[in-house]
Amino acid sequence: MKVKLASNYGFCFGVKRAINIAEQHQNSATMGPLIHNQKEIDRLQSDYKVGLYENLEDVKPNDTVIIRTHGIPKNDLKTLKSKEAKVINATCPFVTTPQQIVKKMSTDGYSILIFGDENHPEVKGVKSYSEDDVHVILEPTELDNIDFKYDKIATVAQTTRKKEKYLEIVNKLILKNKEVRVFNTICDATFENQDAARELSQEVDIMIVIGGKNSSNTKQLLSIAQENCPQSYLIEDEKELNTKWFENKTLCGVTAGASTPDWIIKKVINQIEQY
Ligand code: F3S
Repeated sequence: MKVKLASNYGFCFGVKRAINIAEQHQNSATMGPLIHNQKEIDRLQSDYKVGLYENLEDVKPNDTVIIRTHGIPKNDLKTLKSKEAKVINATCPFVTTPQQIVKKMSTDGYSILIFGDENHPEVKGVKSYSEDDVHVILEPTELDNIDFKYDKIATVAQTTRKKEKYLEIVNKLILKNKEVRVFNTICDATFENQDAARELSQEVDIMIVIGGKNSSNTKQLLSIAQENCPQSYLIEDEKELNTKWFENKTLCGVTAGASTPDWIIKKVINQIEQY
């Protein structure tokens, strides 16, 4: 089996930065998973003794706590500081930006609309920075059920969302509201990996997308790959490869989510090349 790698794949700037920070703080612990990749979290635990807090209550004074890449809600940060923990912020700067925009625009009297998944840690964090009226949607149709408190709307997007869908939401918002402030907070790293996956999926027989099953940008890479290449599969590591997928195929495209480390990608490629 021949393997072709996407021209852009894998770790983004924010994840590389967070891992570097974690590696520099041995015997610390992260508030929530640092990134969406269990294997990398395991490596940080075994090689650098970086643990994980499940709850704020577990944090004790003088503990070193690393804030994960996707950020945490504002009140959780306040609680950590009040516990006199040493807080190291590994929130990606591209996630801090929508947090700050939401804070400013809500203080300035705007209703806030966030395009994203209400249950995603990043969105929970961004939402928490609103001082007033805030709504989260995933589909433009959900706008029909929203009664904005103010006639000025400011909108931000979860960093990993598709820009086409964001445009649909913005178009609909403009039809119904006098003032709409649109902030494009979608991250370029996600675009670059997505564009490369789209291109590659048009020329291969099978696509393998490597990444955490709960990582939203990895799931989006899969859905983009499937548009052109129905034989696209999402795996977390080489053990999940199935030889049957590769029968009668000659060229396999490989891409990886923004939280996937190179050492996992290498193992997967080595395995596919054996088929
Ligand atoms: Fe940050 Fe973009 Fe990565 S928001 S964590 S650089 S995908």
